[in-house]
Amino acid sequence: MTARYDKETGTGGSNGATMRFAPEGDHGANAGLKAARDFLEPVKEHFPWITYSDLWTLASVCAIQEMQGPVIPWRPGRLDRDVGFCTPDGRLPDGSKEQSHLRAIFGRMGFNDQEIVALSGAHSLGRCHTDRSGFEGPWTFSPTVVTNEYYKLLLNEKWNWRKWDGPRQYQDNTSKTLMMLPTDMALVKDKEFRKHVERYAADEQVFFREFSDVLMQLFELGVPFTTGEDARMRFKATTES
Ligand code: HEM
Repeated sequence: MTARYDKETGTGGSNGATMRFAPEGDHGANAGLKAARDFLEPVKEHFPWITYSDLWTLASVCAIQEMQGPVIPWRPGRLDRDVGFCTPDGRLPDGSKEQSHLRAIFGRMGFNDQEIVALSGAHSLGRCHTDRSGFEGPWTFSPTVVTNEYYKLLLNEKWNWRKWDGPRQYQDNTSKTLMMLPTDMALVKDKEFRKHVERYAADEQVFFREFSDVLMQLFELGVPFTTGEDARMRFKATTES
Protein backbone atom coordinates (compact mmCIF):
# COMPACT_ATOMS: atom_id res chain seq x y z
CA MET A 1 0.00 0.00 0.00
CA THR A 2 2.48 2.61 1.13
CA ALA A 3 5.65 1.16 -0.26
CA ARG A 4 5.31 2.36 -3.84
CA TYR A 5 5.67 6.11 -3.56
CA ASP A 6 7.89 7.76 -6.17
CA LYS A 7 9.55 10.99 -5.02
CA GLU A 8 10.22 12.16 -8.61
CA THR A 9 6.60 12.01 -9.76
CA GLY A 10 4.87 12.23 -6.38
CA THR A 11 2.74 9.22 -7.27
CA GLY A 12 1.92 6.16 -5.18
CA GLY A 13 2.08 6.19 -1.38
CA SER A 14 -0.79 5.68 1.04
CA ASN A 15 -2.83 8.52 -0.45
CA GLY A 16 -5.50 7.22 -2.79
CA ALA A 17 -5.99 3.69 -1.42
CA THR A 18 -5.83 2.50 -5.02
CA MET A 19 -5.08 -1.02 -3.82
CA ARG A 20 -8.89 -1.35 -3.65
CA PHE A 21 -8.84 -1.85 -7.41
CA ALA A 22 -8.02 -5.03 -9.29
CA PRO A 23 -4.87 -3.95 -11.16
CA GLU A 24 -2.99 -2.95 -8.01
CA GLY A 25 -4.63 -5.30 -5.50
CA ASP A 26 -3.54 -8.18 -7.72
CA HIS A 27 0.17 -7.23 -7.90
CA GLY A 28 2.22 -10.14 -6.58
CA ALA A 29 3.74 -8.14 -3.74
CA ASN A 30 0.28 -7.22 -2.42
CA ALA A 31 -0.87 -10.83 -2.18
CA GLY A 32 -2.52 -11.46 1.18
CA LEU A 33 -3.29 -7.84 1.96
CA LYS A 34 -6.83 -8.43 0.76
CA ALA A 35 -7.46 -10.21 4.07
CA ALA A 36 -6.52 -7.03 5.96
CA ARG A 37 -8.63 -4.85 3.68
CA ASP A 38 -11.66 -7.13 4.11
CA PHE A 39 -11.15 -7.11 7.88
CA LEU A 40 -11.50 -3.31 7.91
CA GLU A 41 -14.54 -3.15 5.63
CA PRO A 42 -17.10 -3.29 8.53
CA VAL A 43 -15.25 -0.39 10.19
CA LYS A 44 -15.55 1.63 6.99
CA GLU A 45 -19.28 0.81 6.85
CA HIS A 46 -19.67 2.07 10.42
CA PHE A 47 -17.68 5.24 9.85
CA PRO A 48 -18.17 6.04 6.16
CA TRP A 49 -16.70 9.54 6.53
CA ILE A 50 -13.15 8.24 6.97
CA THR A 51 -11.27 7.66 3.72
CA TYR A 52 -9.90 4.18 3.06
CA SER A 53 -6.38 5.55 2.95
CA ASP A 54 -6.73 7.21 6.37
CA LEU A 55 -8.41 4.08 7.76
CA TRP A 56 -5.68 1.70 6.55
CA THR A 57 -2.83 3.81 7.91
CA LEU A 58 -4.69 4.41 11.18
CA ALA A 59 -5.30 0.65 11.51
CA SER A 60 -1.58 0.07 10.96
CA VAL A 61 -0.48 2.43 13.72
CA CYS A 62 -3.10 0.94 16.08
CA ALA A 63 -2.06 -2.63 15.28
CA ILE A 64 1.63 -1.87 15.85
CA GLN A 65 0.83 -0.23 19.17
CA GLU A 66 -1.45 -3.10 20.27
CA MET A 67 1.37 -5.53 19.44
CA GLN A 68 3.52 -3.69 22.00
CA GLY A 69 5.34 -1.61 19.43
CA PRO A 70 6.04 2.11 19.53
CA VAL A 71 3.52 4.92 19.22
CA ILE A 72 3.49 6.23 15.64
CA PRO A 73 2.29 9.81 15.30
CA TRP A 74 -0.57 9.95 12.77
CA ARG A 75 -2.74 12.62 11.19
CA PRO A 76 -5.67 12.39 8.78
CA GLY A 77 -5.74 13.98 5.35
CA ARG A 78 -5.50 11.19 2.78
CA LEU A 79 -7.93 11.22 -0.12
CA ASP A 80 -9.23 8.15 -1.91
CA ARG A 81 -8.70 8.20 -5.65
CA ASP A 82 -10.13 6.26 -8.52
CA VAL A 83 -8.72 3.39 -10.49
CA GLY A 84 -6.76 5.67 -12.88
CA PHE A 85 -4.30 6.42 -10.08
CA CYS A 86 -3.13 2.81 -9.64
CA THR A 87 0.66 2.64 -9.69
CA PRO A 88 2.53 0.26 -12.02
CA ASP A 89 3.62 -3.16 -10.75
CA GLY A 90 7.33 -3.48 -9.92
CA ARG A 91 7.54 -0.62 -7.42
CA LEU A 92 7.43 -2.97 -4.43
CA PRO A 93 10.48 -4.84 -3.11
CA ASP A 94 11.23 -8.35 -4.32
CA GLY A 95 12.34 -10.65 -1.48
CA SER A 96 14.55 -12.73 -3.74
CA LYS A 97 16.91 -9.80 -4.43
CA GLU A 98 19.66 -8.07 -2.45
CA GLN A 99 21.10 -4.71 -1.35
CA SER A 100 21.19 -2.86 -4.68
CA HIS A 101 17.51 -3.65 -5.20
CA LEU A 102 16.62 -2.42 -1.69
CA ARG A 103 18.49 0.84 -2.30
CA ALA A 104 16.80 1.29 -5.69
CA ILE A 105 13.28 0.67 -4.37
CA PHE A 106 13.55 2.62 -1.13
CA GLY A 107 15.83 5.30 -2.56
CA ARG A 108 13.04 6.19 -4.99
CA MET A 109 10.88 6.86 -1.95
CA GLY A 110 13.60 9.07 -0.46
CA PHE A 111 14.84 6.64 2.22
CA ASN A 112 18.51 6.17 3.20
CA ASP A 113 20.37 3.08 4.48
CA GLN A 114 19.45 3.59 8.12
CA GLU A 115 15.79 3.99 7.19
CA ILE A 116 15.82 0.87 5.00
CA VAL A 117 17.15 -1.17 7.92
CA ALA A 118 14.58 0.31 10.31
CA LEU A 119 11.69 -0.37 7.88
CA SER A 120 12.78 -3.97 7.43
CA GLY A 121 12.26 -4.47 11.19
CA ALA A 122 8.55 -4.76 10.36
CA HIS A 123 9.45 -8.37 9.69
CA SER A 124 9.56 -8.94 13.44
CA LEU A 125 5.82 -9.35 12.76
CA GLY A 126 3.94 -11.92 10.73
CA ARG A 127 5.10 -14.60 8.40
CA CYS A 128 5.39 -15.69 4.78
CA HIS A 129 2.75 -17.88 3.18
CA THR A 130 3.31 -20.35 0.34
CA ASP A 131 -0.05 -19.45 -1.19
CA ARG A 132 0.79 -15.73 -1.21
CA SER A 133 4.47 -14.95 -1.86
CA GLY A 134 5.63 -18.57 -2.18
CA PHE A 135 8.03 -18.10 0.76
CA GLU A 136 7.23 -19.87 4.02
CA GLY A 137 7.49 -19.24 7.74
CA PRO A 138 7.93 -16.54 10.39
CA TRP A 139 11.03 -14.41 10.95
CA THR A 140 10.91 -14.60 14.76
CA PHE A 141 9.50 -16.74 17.56
CA SER A 142 7.00 -14.01 18.54
CA PRO A 143 5.35 -12.89 15.28
CA THR A 144 2.53 -11.00 17.02
CA VAL A 145 4.82 -8.82 19.17
CA VAL A 146 7.03 -5.98 17.93
CA THR A 147 10.57 -6.57 19.23
CA ASN A 148 14.17 -6.18 18.06
CA GLU A 149 14.47 -9.98 17.89
CA TYR A 150 14.63 -9.87 14.09
CA TYR A 151 17.96 -8.01 14.27
CA LYS A 152 19.34 -10.24 17.04
CA LEU A 153 18.50 -13.34 15.05
CA LEU A 154 20.06 -11.90 11.90
CA LEU A 155 23.33 -11.36 13.78
CA ASN A 156 23.47 -14.25 16.21
CA GLU A 157 21.86 -17.15 14.40
CA LYS A 158 23.54 -19.20 11.72
CA TRP A 159 21.49 -19.11 8.51
CA ASN A 160 21.65 -21.69 5.74
CA TRP A 161 19.76 -22.00 2.47
CA ARG A 162 16.65 -24.06 3.12
CA LYS A 163 16.58 -27.28 1.14
CA TRP A 164 13.11 -27.39 -0.35
CA ASP A 165 11.09 -27.05 -3.54
CA GLY A 166 10.09 -23.43 -2.95
CA PRO A 167 11.84 -20.12 -3.66
CA ARG A 168 15.35 -19.59 -2.27
CA GLN A 169 15.09 -18.59 1.39
CA TYR A 170 17.23 -18.99 4.49
CA GLN A 171 16.53 -21.25 7.49
CA ASP A 172 17.94 -20.94 11.01
CA ASN A 173 20.39 -23.61 12.05
CA THR A 174 19.07 -24.06 15.61
CA SER A 175 15.30 -24.59 15.41
CA LYS A 176 14.90 -24.86 11.63
CA THR A 177 11.51 -23.16 12.02
CA LEU A 178 12.46 -19.56 11.22
CA MET A 179 13.17 -17.92 7.88
CA MET A 180 14.92 -14.97 6.28
CA LEU A 181 14.45 -13.65 2.76
CA PRO A 182 17.52 -12.83 0.66
CA THR A 183 16.59 -9.13 1.19
CA ASP A 184 16.65 -9.68 4.98
CA MET A 185 20.09 -11.32 4.82
CA ALA A 186 21.37 -8.44 2.68
CA LEU A 187 21.10 -6.30 5.82
CA VAL A 188 23.94 -8.21 7.49
CA LYS A 189 25.96 -8.89 4.35
CA ASP A 190 26.21 -5.20 3.47
CA LYS A 191 28.65 -3.27 5.70
CA GLU A 192 26.65 -0.04 5.75
CA PHE A 193 23.33 -1.78 6.47
CA ARG A 194 24.96 -4.00 9.10
CA LYS A 195 25.97 -1.05 11.30
CA HIS A 196 22.30 -0.29 11.84
CA VAL A 197 21.36 -3.93 12.39
CA GLU A 198 23.94 -3.92 15.19
CA ARG A 199 22.56 -0.72 16.71
CA TYR A 200 19.01 -2.08 16.73
CA ALA A 201 20.03 -5.50 18.06
CA ALA A 202 21.86 -3.80 20.92
CA ASP A 203 19.04 -1.48 22.00
CA GLU A 204 15.33 -2.07 21.41
CA GLN A 205 14.43 1.51 22.36
CA VAL A 206 16.66 2.88 19.61
CA PHE A 207 14.90 0.59 17.13
CA PHE A 208 11.46 1.66 18.40
CA ARG A 209 12.32 5.35 18.05
CA GLU A 210 13.69 5.05 14.55
CA PHE A 211 11.00 2.58 13.43
CA SER A 212 8.30 4.98 14.58
CA ASP A 213 9.98 7.84 12.79
CA VAL A 214 10.39 6.08 9.48
CA LEU A 215 6.88 4.59 9.49
CA MET A 216 5.41 8.01 10.15
CA GLN A 217 7.31 9.28 7.10
CA LEU A 218 6.25 6.29 4.98
CA PHE A 219 2.60 6.84 5.85
CA GLU A 220 2.82 10.56 5.04
CA LEU A 221 4.54 10.31 1.64
CA GLY A 222 2.60 12.13 -1.06
CA VAL A 223 -0.34 13.07 1.19
CA PRO A 224 -1.81 16.52 0.45
CA PHE A 225 -2.19 17.47 4.11
CA THR A 226 -4.05 20.67 4.84
CA THR A 227 -2.85 20.52 8.46
CA GLY A 228 0.63 21.08 9.89
CA GLU A 229 2.89 18.65 11.71
CA ASP A 230 1.35 19.78 15.02
CA ALA A 231 -1.87 18.01 13.95
CA ARG A 232 -0.17 14.65 14.44
CA MET A 233 -1.96 12.55 17.08
CA ARG A 234 -0.33 10.17 19.49
CA PHE A 235 -2.68 7.49 20.78
CA LYS A 236 -2.42 6.19 24.32
CA ALA A 237 -1.83 2.49 24.75
CA THR A 238 -4.92 0.69 26.08
CA THR A 239 -2.88 -0.50 29.05
CA GLU A 240 -2.04 3.09 30.07
CA SER A 241 -4.40 4.84 32.48
C1 HEM B 1 12.67 -4.63 2.60
C2 HEM B 1 11.93 -5.04 1.60
C3 HEM B 1 10.77 -5.96 1.82
C4 HEM B 1 10.55 -7.15 1.21
C5 HEM B 1 11.40 -7.77 0.13
C6 HEM B 1 9.35 -7.71 1.78
C7 HEM B 1 8.83 -8.93 1.42
C8 HEM B 1 7.82 -9.59 2.11
C9 HEM B 1 7.32 -10.89 1.80
C10 HEM B 1 7.79 -11.78 0.63
C11 HEM B 1 6.38 -11.20 2.71
C12 HEM B 1 5.54 -12.49 2.82
C13 HEM B 1 4.13 -12.31 2.25
C14 HEM B 1 3.33 -13.58 2.42
O1 HEM B 1 3.75 -14.63 1.90
O2 HEM B 1 2.27 -13.54 3.09
C15 HEM B 1 6.28 -10.08 3.61
C16 HEM B 1 5.46 -10.04 4.70
C17 HEM B 1 5.36 -8.98 5.54
N1 HEM B 1 5.94 -7.73 5.36
FE1 HEM B 1 7.43 -7.30 4.06
N2 HEM B 1 8.85 -6.86 2.70
C18 HEM B 1 9.67 -5.76 2.76
C19 HEM B 1 9.49 -4.62 3.53
C20 HEM B 1 8.45 -4.47 4.42
C21 HEM B 1 8.10 -3.22 5.04
C22 HEM B 1 8.77 -1.87 4.76
C23 HEM B 1 7.07 -3.48 5.88
C24 HEM B 1 6.32 -2.55 6.77
C25 HEM B 1 6.81 -1.42 7.22
C26 HEM B 1 6.78 -4.91 5.79
C27 HEM B 1 5.87 -5.58 6.54
C28 HEM B 1 5.54 -6.92 6.39
C29 HEM B 1 4.68 -7.68 7.30
C30 HEM B 1 4.06 -7.17 8.60
C31 HEM B 1 4.57 -8.97 6.76
C32 HEM B 1 3.79 -10.16 7.33
C33 HEM B 1 2.44 -10.33 6.67
C34 HEM B 1 1.66 -11.53 7.24
O3 HEM B 1 1.96 -12.02 8.34
O4 HEM B 1 0.71 -11.96 6.58
N3 HEM B 1 7.62 -5.47 4.87
N4 HEM B 1 7.16 -9.11 3.22
